Amino acid sequence: MIKCGIYERYHWATFENIEKRGIPEKQAYSKVLAYVQNLEQNLKNGNGLILKGGVGTGKTTLAAAVVQHMIRIGNTSCHFVPLASLLDEIFSRKGDDQKEYIHQLKNCKLLVIDDLGQEYGEGWVQLKFENIISERYNRCRSTIFTSNLSAEKMKDRYTERIIDRFRDNSDIINFTGRSLRGQLRAV
Ligand SMILES: Nc1ncnc2c1ncn2[C@@H]1O[C@H](COP(=O)(O)OP(=O)(O)OP(=O)(O)O)[C@@H](O)[C@H]1O
Ligand SMILES: [Mg+2]
Repeated sequence: MIKCGIYERYHWATFENIEKRGIPEKQAYSKVLAYVQNLEQNLKNGNGLILKGGVGTGKTTLAAAVVQHMIRIGNTSCHFVPLASLLDEIFSRKGDDQKEYIHQLKNCKLLVIDDLGQEYGEGWVQLKFENIISERYNRCRSTIFTSNLSAEKMKDRYTERIIDRFRDNSDIINFTGRSLRGQLRAV
């Protein structure tokens, strides 16, 4: 089955299954669901999302659900990747293999970049990453970011130029609850 980069831990994550398990972040959930209900138009306009908040609040789960929905409706031009792995892949691939990977990142209709701010390369890798974001922005390609970073920390880590592109065409959705991981352990 095609999963477009979604890790095994999140294979269960469809809107249907999340609803079955109970929706802890109702407001955030409704906003992401609304994005999916208008997916065709959102992809056409290059609209994306920034899912932002504390650890374990369900951001990656919902981002994975968007990708799974897209696959289910027959559109596999989507890719899910943690930022650290994206940078790693760019760095370790060479020649045509690297070109092909970067081409996919720049062009797919929906790119989920998980854990923005967790890792950030320097020099050449950073330039490549910023170039991918710029290209996607210019080509009206939708990007969903998940992040634990506050607005201030985001400013420390990324250039104003790149933050401006993150924000444009992206709804910021805040996850405010406690970690679901902790709650699950407590059961
Ligand atoms: N609706 C839900 N019901 C029960 N458990 C859930 C639900 N949504 C997510 N979880 C579980 O909660 C845990 C944390 O979810 P997730 O990884 O999506 O959080 P996150 O916000 O991305 O965390 P981090 O910021 O640490 O990356 C996961 O183990 C996930 O399976
Ligand atoms: Mg996460």
